[in-house]
Amino acid sequence: MLTVKNVKKTFYPGTPNEKRALNDVSLELDAGDFVTIIGSNGAGKSTLFNAIGGAFWVDAGSIHLDGKNITSWKDYKRAYDIGRVFQDTLKGTAPNLTIEENLALAYTRKAKKSLFAVSRDDRDFFRTLLEKLNLGLEDRLKAKVGQLSGGQRQAVSLLMCTIAEPKLLLLDEHTAALDPATAEKVLAITVELVEAGKITTMMITHDMQAALSIGNRTIMMDDGGIILDLSGKERADMTVDRLLTCYTEASKKKLANDRMLLR
Ligand SMILES: Nc1ncnc2c1ncn2[C@@H]1O[C@H](COP(=O)(O)OP(=O)(O)O)[C@@H](O)[C@H]1O
Ligand SMILES: [Mg+2]
Repeated sequence: MLTVKNVKKTFYPGTPNEKRALNDVSLELDAGDFVTIIGSNGAGKSTLFNAIGGAFWVDAGSIHLDGKNITSWKDYKRAYDIGRVFQDTLKGTAPNLTIEENLALAYTRKAKKSLFAVSRDDRDFFRTLLEKLNLGLEDRLKAKVGQLSGGQRQAVSLLMCTIAEPKLLLLDEHTAALDPATAEKVLAITVELVEAGKITTMMITHDMQAALSIGNRTIMMDDGGIILDLSGKERADMTVDRLLTCYTEASKKKLANDRMLLR
């Protein structure tokens, strides 16, 4: 479904600030995979999403989605197939439009209808979707999204993404800015929407427990590379403690390698 092959990305090449953010990353996802991604700050997680989403051209390597080579596609073209929800709750929705208009934006794109022509059927459909979120939004279709709480906005962003039936959904710490109770609720909504739509999904999270319990595969990134890729029994047997040990060991090994290279 998604094939990332030998992808490299260096920022500010040839300057003192040179940063190799993706160092020969390869990754293959099957349709319906729900992969959680963990790793320390600066590991390259968001850069991997940016490479897949088309925020920049990669320096080397290729990206295929659903059999198509999208490596040289512009981001807006990839956006038809790739949905993204960011940590920033202000990013995914248009604040001055109503809930209904935001959902219509996503829906009309998919249904190839004219913009904002929200029929009664559409409205009923949106209401049913919102009811499932259990956030009381089904009675607030005409409320401006800017008036909603962060958690409610993330839920609407998720709904917009899933309504569009993307081939791939990228969630970049989308619950990190929410209070713990709301984060848990939005996470539950995420799982429900992803499973209902059978959407191939990648989710970056700092919550190691969530990373191991949600989805079917967990990837750990460090210093621009994938250092651990868990699925099946290996993943089922993994604990947060052992995951932390794996991380420390991988970092130590990396540090030792770097020292060797410096010599
Ligand atoms: N647009 C950019 N310009 C320059 N450097 C960047 C850019 N995006 C990311 N980086 C750098 O690349 C590295 C990886 O960043 P990022 O992918 O955001 O990490 P993560 O999401 O894992 O915390 C960091 O050192 C970061 O500063
Ligand atoms: Mg990030």
